[in-house]
Order: sequence, then C-alpha cells, then structure tokens
Amino acid sequence: SRIPRVLSGIQPTAESFHLGNYLGALRQWVAMQDTHDAFYCVVDLHAITAGHDPEALVRRRRASAAQLLAIGLDPDRCTLFVQSQVPEHTQLSWVLGAITGFGEASRMTQFKDKSAKQERASVGLFTYPILQAADILLYDTDEVPVGEDQRQHLELTRDLAGRFNKTFGKTFRLPKPHIVKDTAKICDLQDPTAKMSKSNSVPAGIVDLRDTPKAAAKKIRSAVTDTGREIVFDEENKPGIANLLTIFSVLAGVTIPELEARYQGKGYGDFKGDLADVVVEAIAPIARRTEEYLADPAQLDKLLTEGARKARAVATATLADVYDKVGF
Ligand code: ADP
Ligand code: NA
Repeated sequence: SRIPRVLSGIQPTAESFHLGNYLGALRQWVAMQDTHDAFYCVVDLHAITAGHDPEALVRRRRASAAQLLAIGLDPDRCTLFVQSQVPEHTQLSWVLGAITGFGEASRMTQFKDKSAKQERASVGLFTYPILQAADILLYDTDEVPVGEDQRQHLELTRDLAGRFNKTFGKTFRLPKPHIVKDTAKICDLQDPTAKMSKSNSVPAGIVDLRDTPKAAAKKIRSAVTDTGREIVFDEENKPGIANLLTIFSVLAGVTIPELEARYQGKGYGDFKGDLADVVVEAIAPIARRTEEYLADPAQLDKLLTEGARKARAVATATLADVYDKVGF
C-alpha cells in the first residue's frame, strides 16, 4: 500500500507568514514531508476572492513560496506548487459546482463570517469551498490537515466526492481529516484573548517570520501581560503569560511545567528577555533563507514550474477521468 497522500494549501495574502501560521500549521507541513506523500499548494486563486492588488499578488506569491522553502519544505521530498499554474483546479471546481446544492453551499459558516465583514462579498468567496474540494479531490488525497474552522469544508468535500461517485461511477477517494499533533493556537501579543491574525491583529501583535531580530525581540518584550508577577499557565486569568509560555514551550521543546519551574520567583522581564532570544533564534534563519530565495527569482520560479509539472502529472489524469465520466 502506498504511503498516505496529504494535501494542504495556504493563501499568499501577506508579504510574510506569522508565528501563528508557523506553529499552528507550517511546522507540521515540514514534518509531514517524511511521513506522507505531501502536496503543498500556494492557493493564489483563493486569494483573489476578497479583492486584491495584482502587483501585490505577484510579490506575495513569490514571498510565500520562498518562505515555505525557507522553513524547510524540500522539493525533493514534497510537491510544492502554485494553484493558478495547475488549471485543472478551476476546471474540476466547475464540475463540482454543478453537483453542489445552493442550500448546501449556503450553510458554510466561514462564508457567513467572512462575508459579514465585507461591504460586497463576491460569488468567488461563496464558492471558495467548492474550489477547495477540487484542490483536494484532484490529487487522490487520503488526508487533509484540518483545524476546527476547516472541518465543515472537508465534510462538503467528502459529500461531493461521494455524490459524484454515486452518480457517475467510482472516481474520487474520500479524504479523511488528519488531526495534527503538537500544533498550538497562538494569540495576539497585544490582545491575548484573540488569535494572532494577519487580518485582525495590529502589527505589534504579530511576529512575522520576516521580522528583523530587533523588531521581533521588541514585540515579545512589549507583549501585553498582567499586573501579577507569577509565571504560571492560566489561560483564563493570565492569557498573555499563557500565550508566551505556549510560544516558548513549542519553540524550545520544553514543557510548560518545566518552564513554570524554571521561572519560579523570577520576573516577567527575565522571562520575556529569554523568550525574545528563543524567538529570534527560531526566525532569524528563516528570514535569512527567505531573502536568499527571493534574491534569485528565476531559480524560485523554476522550482515552482517544476512543482506544477509534478502536480499536473496527477491532476490531468484525474480531470481526464472526470471529463470522461460526465460526458465531455
Ligand atoms: P490568518 O488568520 O492570519 O489570516 P490564515 O487563516 O491564512 O491566517 O491561516 C493559515 C494557516 O495558519 C491555517 O492553517 C491556520 O489554522 C493557521 N493559523 C493562523 N493563525 C493562527 C494562530 N494564531 N495560531 C495557530 N494557527 C494559526
Ligand atoms: Na514525502
């Protein structure tokens, strides 16, 4: 039996990913290269559904790819590609849209949340989960890493795959959720009751993987805490300290009780100073490698072209089967 295939995507919606993306998702992408046949996709088609600037899209797509390579994705051990370079994604999405119920699509809570924040939500934002289903089903995917917010979309994907198979004959493999271990939810440094988010956090609330050591250290040292003195993990009453303990623990590979013991009787200043060092040590090499990849855009584009070629080898076969089954 083959090793399980996993597919995951990330939107190129900023010049840099942040510490939350890294500790909540991307670090596990690196690990899964060795346990899975991993397909990783910079989902630029998804990134235009909420309005965008073309020049920024070009820059952000390159920056995202460079950063994924910089954190340790290895084109020899995974398939790293850009969604818009594989036209089969949109082609399959159209076919799947034809078997999706309007009511079924209308039940997606992420659309409800995202569209509520916009003046004029697009149809593309509405059909986003159908494109996501195409992303997954094109590659005969066994597993999809999902957080809670993506569970409903994966259910839709499974429903569409099952419906297509029943109507037109067995074509798609039904993907399962992959519960990723050791992920952490990272909170905003300035508002530790909210998640660190490129769309909602203020700049001082986010550590970007391209921050300079000085900027990153300053953000950690200025993180909001509380008026107490104890360094203990208490998400309810001490969300700021709890968030910093989480970041420290996952980056340094030390348990939270060990950290509590280490900082017993010490002040917030000592703790934050040490954490700033840990964060800088983790992100400085990523930032440096990102700039190295970006300094040679021709080589970067070549890697992505090669990734798209590998992806298309699978995607064209799936789409040919689908077109044949539906009568094209
Ligand atoms: P953002 O909220 O900054 O827009 P995305 O929604 O694009 O981030 O998320 C990309 C990936 O990073 C997803 O897998 C998501 O679960 C993960 N992620 C985003 N923010 C955090 C966070 N603060 N903590 C943990 N994981 C996160
Ligand atoms: Na692999």
